[in-house]
Amino acid sequence: MTQLKELESQVRELVMLLEASKQLNSNLEMGEVLESILLQMVQVVGAEAGTLWVLDGERQTIKADAAYGPSSADILNIELKRDEGIVGKVIETGKAELIENVAWHPNWANRVDDSSGFITKSMITVPLAVKGKVLGALQLLNKKDIAFFSEQDIRLAVALANQSALALHNSQMYDELQRMLLSMIRTLAKVLDARDPYTAGHSERVAKYSLWIAEKLGMDAQSCEELYKAALLHDIGKIGIPDNILRKSERLTTDEYTTIKQHTVIGADILSNIEPKEAMVHAIETALSHHERLDGTGYPHGLAGENIPLFARIVGVADAFDAMTTARSYSAGASFESGVEELQRCKGSLFDSRVVDAFAAILQGCNYQIEQYEAQQERGYRL
Ligand SMILES: [Fe+2]
Repeated sequence: MTQLKELESQVRELVMLLEASKQLNSNLEMGEVLESILLQMVQVVGAEAGTLWVLDGERQTIKADAAYGPSSADILNIELKRDEGIVGKVIETGKAELIENVAWHPNWANRVDDSSGFITKSMITVPLAVKGKVLGALQLLNKKDIAFFSEQDIRLAVALANQSALALHNSQMYDELQRMLLSMIRTLAKVLDARDPYTAGHSERVAKYSLWIAEKLGMDAQSCEELYKAALLHDIGKIGIPDNILRKSERLTTDEYTTIKQHTVIGADILSNIEPKEAMVHAIETALSHHERLDGTGYPHGLAGENIPLFARIVGVADAFDAMTTARSYSAGASFESGVEELQRCKGSLFDSRVVDAFAAILQGCNYQIEQYEAQQERGYRL
């Protein structure tokens, strides 16, 4: 009988591990994956509540990324110091803790219970570690029905924590790489804008306007991010245009204008050297086609209508608006109102009507108070 029970629980353990690993390898959002693993653990181990704590190495704090149980909403708002409580100790030592009664434990910090109203009695806390680096800890609270957690519970918790840690590590690495890529793209755009005092901040503004338009058009979050990066890089080909032409304040000769038009092709060429190529497809198209116009009068290829990629149509509108409303050596710069009027005058002929309408709705909706609109947007957007 005991053997049968033992076998039964081993099978249950295995099924649970397989289920967890299936989920970790799927494309679900990280937060959802961790939440679902926590829920399974709480159920299989038979705990009243559970919390998944993640270490923020930069800020030296520990935050609950997922919580299950009666006070989970309150626990998600709690932030611990790096060395606080039993979680802090497990993260520090990398060793699991099985505690029969927390009240007797020297590291017990009552703060979480005090803030959430939950009363912790018994507890398992296991580290989330990858290659010896502790990323956080998984905590199961109050064994149901019987008083204490068992050694088998801790073994199961450790196995699941190892799987979760790997998924967490991958997701953190991915976020870090994305952040690094974005900051490098921003730096490139800044270097470019710095060459001409009259275009200072141009790429950032065009990227910002393009992002607002994309959100207004209801594009998904990933496309919005892609567009933002592509817009930052739209004029990167100007790196290949000589200063005496790029910064010339008098009217350009036909030859000089032909040279300046080359920035589209040069930009696409520069960006096509970046690997992986799939990640740069939109940026290449945008650099190449942001001066194409709906009626086919643009450059470099005279594309018309929907043959112009959507990203390039959006950046084309944002770019034209910024060029009109920014002071140049030869003009003071139009007001935002006149900029919108001009876009509307040319919609359907030069510019995509849907894109112009979306941008006009944004600017009119905030009464041309762009800074206020930006402040509102930034609250909801992480870029
Ligand atoms: Fe351009």
